[in-house]
Amino acid sequence: MTASAPVPPEPVEPPIGLLAELTHRCPLQCPYCSNPVELVRRGNELDTATWISVLDQAAELGVLQVHLSGGEPALREDLEEIVARAVAAGLYTNLVTSAVGVDADRLARLRDRGLHHVQISFQDVTEEGVTRIGRAPGALARKIALAEAAVRLGLPWTLNAVLHRHNLDRVERFLELALELGAHRIELANVQYYGWGFVNRAALMPTPAQLERFRTVLERAARELAGRLAIDYVIPDYYARYPKPCMNGWGRAVMVVAPDGRVLPCHAAHVIEGLEFPQVRAMPLREIWYRSAAFAAFRGTGWMREPCRSCPRREEDFGGCRCQAAMLLGDPTATDPACSLSPHHAAMRRLAEVESTGEPPAFVYRRFGTRATMRRRELAPLPAD
Ligand code: SF4
Ligand code: FES
Repeated sequence: MTASAPVPPEPVEPPIGLLAELTHRCPLQCPYCSNPVELVRRGNELDTATWISVLDQAAELGVLQVHLSGGEPALREDLEEIVARAVAAGLYTNLVTSAVGVDADRLARLRDRGLHHVQISFQDVTEEGVTRIGRAPGALARKIALAEAAVRLGLPWTLNAVLHRHNLDRVERFLELALELGAHRIELANVQYYGWGFVNRAALMPTPAQLERFRTVLERAARELAGRLAIDYVIPDYYARYPKPCMNGWGRAVMVVAPDGRVLPCHAAHVIEGLEFPQVRAMPLREIWYRSAAFAAFRGTGWMREPCRSCPRREEDFGGCRCQAAMLLGDPTATDPACSLSPHHAAMRRLAEVESTGEPPAFVYRRFGTRATMRRRELAPLPAD
């Protein structure tokens, strides 16, 4: 596919959000990281001036919110400058951090530059659990200290709990922690199986019984904590009845800029063979959004096949996730197998049940240079029923 294509027939609205992956460097090594297995090295990262240009272009294009993410975005020494520019451009700024690399003083500096919100990831609720996943001893204490600093500074913050087989039974404690630490919101996000999460799927997949219990806790918490804590949640696609509206539709709401300047419709889009992702050093964001073949590829509903094509839900979930269809079926135009109307849905569910009840394999931790390991673990396409 070439980098440019005619403007698609349906009117294209401007994007709302920009996910700015400032770096793939990270002090943690979480085995479910959604970054690609082939991480961008420091020498290939965009420089400050280019990020500033990206932010200005995004605001001009109509973007309202920027999520400053990574890896660990605080490893960028120019984070303060980037935040200040985003704020000056009129963007709502959300810092997505592990808290390792941001102490209270730095958070105060970022707040003084206008940072609006901070999202802190909690790998678990005990030091032992956090270290087992992130491999950064002492990280839980730093997360708690940063959460307390956010409250002192008057910065709203979200506790992001990434859930899986090894910590899902502690969901009540995640909720208590969010309340104790004054979080405005908690995101109970079961692992999504992309990037490193896909490599480690069999080690992370929860059992159906764990998920059932999670739903019960969630219902009770939604009743009891209404008005005190906003609760968002994500269940694993493998146990869903219908797929999530991934990215709110391909090329419809969000742009992702990778650390090396590639611009993608979602963080996992590189798994789709044949798409060429434009480079922000070479093409303006506006042109990428409105004219690139990569963003047009699965925009709207025209690309859909049955059962999506004639489905009444097609404007609600947009056929689910293109990357998941590519990874599990080898075909990005197929209905996401997370959908119960997909002929591959039962096989997906069976796979989850088998993996979740078997002996979990050892984690493949997120590290630079692990491509060979991923190859060995690549999975055969799902069969049809
Ligand atoms: Fe969504 Fe397609 Fe399933 Fe309909 S068939 S619910 S559009 S994924
Ligand atoms: Fe790429 Fe869902 S992650 S479309």
